[in-house]
Amino acid sequence: MPPIVVALTGASGVPYGVRLLEVLLQQGISVELVISPSAVQVITQELEYTVDLNRFSPVQLGVTGGTVSDSDQNLYQFGKGNTLHYNHYQNYFTGIASGSFKTSGMVICPCSMGTLAAIAGGLSTNLIQRAADVHLKERRKLIVVPRETPLGSIQLENMKRLVDAGAVVLPAMPGFYHRPKSIQELVDFVVTRICDQLGIDVDLTARWGT
Ligand SMILES: Cc1cc2nc3c(=O)[nH]c(=O)nc-3n(C[C@H](O)[C@H](O)[C@H](O)COP(=O)(O)O)c2cc1C
Repeated sequence: MPPIVVALTGASGVPYGVRLLEVLLQQGISVELVISPSAVQVITQELEYTVDLNRFSPVQLGVTGGTVSDSDQNLYQFGKGNTLHYNHYQNYFTGIASGSFKTSGMVICPCSMGTLAAIAGGLSTNLIQRAADVHLKERRKLIVVPRETPLGSIQLENMKRLVDAGAVVLPAMPGFYHRPKSIQELVDFVVTRICDQLGIDVDLTARWGT
């Protein structure tokens, strides 16, 4: 299947995005990755990883198992024949900036209120916003995972604009009915819901009624 675009932006909750990346790669799915500069700050704060957007490697996110396929192209090969392609957030010359490049959808996880507003306004001021705009115009799946509380009327209106435009707004709100015992279980709850939306079968957490 064509790759899934994963974008990390500067909202709290980067462990959700990193786990999503890990799970997709383990499932043999190819990923096109973009990271915003603010996400780098949050990654340092929440995971104590140092990410260099100009010299990126998946190991900087704790994602192991990839071998460099083409360092000039920031392409990494994973065990099931799938790839991770890292895209710089200012590079519009890359595939995902265009609707002619096939993808299986895009997830922005976590999605800051800033990125959410920019997409709702159609701004496309960086590659993340542009790729999201492309997914909406091509009627492909766009999933945004906001993490903010409480929510103001502008933020709620922006979310409604995105839903009206065809996006899925999937807040990082783990449930507790599976009686989680660890943070990992809370993270996996949200990642499972994202994978459900993408139509990808994962078995990370107990489901209601099973
Ligand atoms: C440690 C840290 C935590 C943040 N948490 C949030 C958050 O939970 N939600 C949010 O919308 N913005 C949060 N921000 C603010 C965004 O990072 C900021 O608005 C930034 O401009 C977003 O840029 P981006 O969307 O390009 O990543 C946080 C910033 C920092 C440094």
